[in-house]
Amino acid sequence: MPGQSPIVSAKGITKTFSGVCVLKNVDFDICPGEIHALIGENGAGKSTLVKIISGVHSFLEGQILVGGVPMRFKSPHAAREAGIALIHQEPLTFQDLNVTENLYLGHTRGKGAPIINWSELHRKTDALLETLNVRMRSRDPVRGMTIADQQMIEIASALSQNAKVIIMDEPTAALSRGEVENLFTMIRRLKEQGHAIVFIGHRLDEILEISDRITVLRDGVLVGECNKEEADQDKLVHMMINRTFKELIVKETVPIGEVLLEVKGISYPGQYYDINLTVRRGEIVGMAGLVGAGRSEMASAIFGTQPALAGDIIIKGEKVSIKNPSQAMQKGVSMVSEDRARTGLLTAFNIKYNMTFAILRRIISKLGFIQQKKEDELVDRYVKYLNVRMRDANQAVRELSGGNQQKVVIAKWLLTESDILILDEPTRGIDVGAKAEVYKLINELAKQGKAILMISSELPEILQLSDRVYVMCEGHITAEFRREELDSKKIMTAASTVRERSAV
Ligand SMILES: Nc1ncnc2c1ncn2[C@@H]1O[C@H](COP(=O)(O)OP(=O)(O)O)[C@@H](O)[C@H]1O
Ligand SMILES: [Mg+2]
Repeated sequence: MPGQSPIVSAKGITKTFSGVCVLKNVDFDICPGEIHALIGENGAGKSTLVKIISGVHSFLEGQILVGGVPMRFKSPHAAREAGIALIHQEPLTFQDLNVTENLYLGHTRGKGAPIINWSELHRKTDALLETLNVRMRSRDPVRGMTIADQQMIEIASALSQNAKVIIMDEPTAALSRGEVENLFTMIRRLKEQGHAIVFIGHRLDEILEISDRITVLRDGVLVGECNKEEADQDKLVHMMINRTFKELIVKETVPIGEVLLEVKGISYPGQYYDINLTVRRGEIVGMAGLVGAGRSEMASAIFGTQPALAGDIIIKGEKVSIKNPSQAMQKGVSMVSEDRARTGLLTAFNIKYNMTFAILRRIISKLGFIQQKKEDELVDRYVKYLNVRMRDANQAVRELSGGNQQKVVIAKWLLTESDILILDEPTRGIDVGAKAEVYKLINELAKQGKAILMISSELPEILQLSDRVYVMCEGHITAEFRREELDSKKIMTAASTVRERSAV
């Protein structure tokens, strides 16, 4: 920030892990009262940099200055004493303790105070929680709390230790939209109080919403820094991957076969009207439109979550009645939903269970037991295929990054081997690297001969991937384009213009 001198300044940081250089001569500074975002693809070195600043890792070359004074922290504890706190991606709370215990256990160390006045600490904790406007109370047990609440405990803990710099490493990865709003309110309040915030994130819309300044790392090297006012998604993507977003999406040509899905005149008054569409084997059909155009509602008719009130659905030439998702799945229709945290995943369960619960029938033996070996083999195959980054398949899904969660959802539907796949905003909320992997996967699914209906609000992915595109506006299909006719202006016009219903 102009005119402000930084609280923390990292200068020329170089770091190696077993001889491999992961940060090269990186400068990064943090000023009071600013929200400084740190972005970059997976493996760019973001976590390593903040771990160095917060005393978790040592470094080979460079300097960390706190208030202008060079420091070399021997531990995270030492960094905390200097006012720097790292909030972990997976909160490091003690499940069997209550909020106060989690807040104060770290501090009492080395103070030579064997007698702890718990009622005093509970009172202090409640006062702190109140100023933070957090719902929980001092005596609440941590077990069973959401990740979002546990993050709040970590933030409260940092504040109770007078942290001046609060560093958050991908704090929104496992949060719902509402929880993200809450966290952002908290972050803004901390900023107003003069704290310095470092925010590592992968959702560029969130980054542009919350940050004042943005620093980009690529392969361990500082690419650049800009103020929020000078930044937009395209510029940031280009800085992160040195290519434009469009260049990242490659369309593979696949032979297109017979019609697998046909929708004839379905309507649900108030949501969508007289929808007609077809999707062929090997074809990727884009469904463009603005948010709220009725696309997801129309898709829920095909998948049976909310059947249409009129019209027909025809699968492989046969008229079908789909009243719920399990009937849809029996007919070979799968859907990757828009809100994976709510409907696509059981976030409290592990990766393995999430991938296989849709196909339990296939892996259950005649005696009713799950065939463990068969399940393990299937999961292993798809985890490798999709390059899911995880500890192991027994890890809870909510601990994965958004992109990896999305891969688990897609794996679930790959396992079902259905012919018709509806993807609702398949790359929403995931980082560019993971997006590129999801695009490869969508191509792969088309190559396998699936018929794909892809709802997306991101024009580049509609333009690059689709063989054909329908556009919806206010519940009506307002245009249809073949690939060679595609053009962003025409799509935007159709997405915002309701054609008068022709008198047929
Ligand atoms: N403890 C470690 N030991 C060895 N290599 C590591 C360790 N932590 C991170 N790395 C490597 O350092 C690079 C940067 O990782 P990281 O800082 O976690 O990236 P980001 O947070 O940007 O995704 C990666 O190549 C990663 O594999
Ligand atoms: Mg990281």
